[in-house]
Amino acid sequence: MSTSLPAVLPGPGSTDYARYMRTDVLLSLQRGTAERAHPDELLFQVVHQCAELWFKLIHHELGRALDHLAADQPSAAEQLVQRAVRCLALVTEQLHMLRHLHPAQFAAFRTELGNGSGFESPGWKGMREITTELDIAFSRLLSSLGVTPIDVYCGQPSDPLFRLAETLVSLDEQIALWRTEHYTIATRIIGHGVLGTRNTPIDSLTRLITHRRFPTLWEARTDLTEASPRGRQSRQAPR
Ligand code: HEM
Repeated sequence: MSTSLPAVLPGPGSTDYARYMRTDVLLSLQRGTAERAHPDELLFQVVHQCAELWFKLIHHELGRALDHLAADQPSAAEQLVQRAVRCLALVTEQLHMLRHLHPAQFAAFRTELGNGSGFESPGWKGMREITTELDIAFSRLLSSLGVTPIDVYCGQPSDPLFRLAETLVSLDEQIALWRTEHYTIATRIIGHGVLGTRNTPIDSLTRLITHRRFPTLWEARTDLTEASPRGRQSRQAPR
């Protein structure tokens, strides 16, 4: 067994690991046993807190991607958006843990949440804001180059702009996948036809699943389909 070396970093904690990772603070952020209305509160809090940390990282990486876009560096931006997509896939996967939280157990501590709602998630709000900025910055970059999303999609898949457009679509797709998984799990726990803690009808969350953060990239797909011979035949009649 290795003997641990003395801590050399400044700050609270008995080891350098604790001081650098700030584990004392981190591990004190969950309700203690005496405070919990039900033992499953720890599961609930850990899943949420982990999600907030991943959302924080996503926001950070998308912010850096935005800086690269402003500097006309689509390849560097694409790599960071790719990283954000992977993070969001992990958060989506982690939601699965809440399938271990059963309806009666959640009901036993739901009042502990007060009026707290996922709509107030700082990480989710930050992600929504930064994707709007990314959408604007990408459109601006295309305009400055005199190209449209359709021009990009008719070009080479190896083109950095093509790759970035596809990665932004992957991000949008992953947001929809998160929302689908979240809705599925939330209804598994609290059922259909009920109100959330923010008085939102739970089933209204389904509408958000089709919401798009990068609408012009989806419109380009529709336009390409409609412009094809088969697309012209199958165009929907206006309602
Ligand atoms: C027991 C599990 C969960 C239930 C029953 C649940 C329920 C709900 C409900 C009913 C809403 C609608 C707003 C409201 O009235 O509160 C909502 C929204 C939301 N929740 Fe959850 N939630 C759960 C887990 C999570 C987790 C783990 C996260 C991760 C941070 C999360 C993040 C969000 C976000 C970001 C929204 C806004 C949705 C959007 O914009 O699409 N929720 N949730």
